Amino acid sequence: MGFPVTRLRRLRRTGPLRDLVRETDLAPEHLVQPLFITAGEGVREPIETMPGMERLSISEAVAEVTEIAAAGVRAVLLFGIPASKDEVGSEAYDDEGVIQMAVRALKESQAEVVVITDVCLCEYTAHGHCGIVREGEVDNDLTLELLAKTAISHAAAGADAVAPSDMMDGRVGAIRAQLDEEGHSSVPIVAYSAKYASAFYGPFREAAGSAPEFGDRRGYQMNPANADEAVREAKLDLEEGADVVMVKPALPYLDVVRRVKDATGAPVAAYHVGGEYSMLKAAAANGWIDERAAAMESLTAIRRAGADMIITYFAKDAAAWLMRGPG
Ligand code: PBG
Ligand code: ZN
Repeated sequence: MGFPVTRLRRLRRTGPLRDLVRETDLAPEHLVQPLFITAGEGVREPIETMPGMERLSISEAVAEVTEIAAAGVRAVLLFGIPASKDEVGSEAYDDEGVIQMAVRALKESQAEVVVITDVCLCEYTAHGHCGIVREGEVDNDLTLELLAKTAISHAAAGADAVAPSDMMDGRVGAIRAQLDEEGHSSVPIVAYSAKYASAFYGPFREAAGSAPEFGDRRGYQMNPANADEAVREAKLDLEEGADVVMVKPALPYLDVVRRVKDATGAPVAAYHVGGEYSMLKAAAANGWIDERAAAMESLTAIRRAGADMIITYFAKDAAAWLMRGPG
């Protein structure tokens, strides 16, 4: 039945009527705030490529998480910037490493905030690759053991969930088996299942000092041209024991978020990455875009595509905006 009987504008007017027919909700509890943890004392180092973000030492991170929680965000994702790097990423699985100590400090002071840890080697290796390099290539199977070791040390420190971002084949299974064997069978795995070889990671690599020294990550991260493969990755990760599957980046891959959600029915996370954040920040700083409106529209679109949770550098601000209500 068409016009004039049908008028879609009837329900579109501002106010409670418009809200009654709203299809997608966005709330602080859907958001995860990524944080960069660095060694040292009292460090709050601004990240140039990601305005508003800072590298935080542990005590500063505890203070920041208090504010994040007050804004309504209930989960954080931790990335470590180690004091020193080597060929095998030793600090990643050191029980006194920066992440292990940060997790203990956060769980002591902020027990109710969900602490998820990024599990990868690239922030800890001198060459900046996500695994062990053999003859100029990242060796998949050699890397698995170290990733599992890293996940165990995070869980032992008290991490509520571990999030492998390396894209090695079989790492979810290797981590799950090791966690179970060591008494951490209730620690979930948030798997970066469809992680693309993306130009949008540039600002993050600057923040974490994790740009590869030679070559690139195309030997393990996905081709942006592929979507069937993303569904296969997600299904394989679930078979290996993943509890949540992730698509990353978010906005350029909303079709993939939807397909993974529909194909698996599993909890889906989308990572609104550094470059997506920085673009909005840069445009807003120039007065070219309304930061709040553009950020909220982006996050709502990611939820509409099928993401249950969104990892975003806007988490704290978005939660505060949501609590303050419309406008
Ligand atoms: C590293 C890792 C990356 C991100 C999370 N973990 C980048 C990369 O692969 O170089 C990206 C996060 C972001 O861009 O915000 N395994
Ligand atoms: Zn990595």
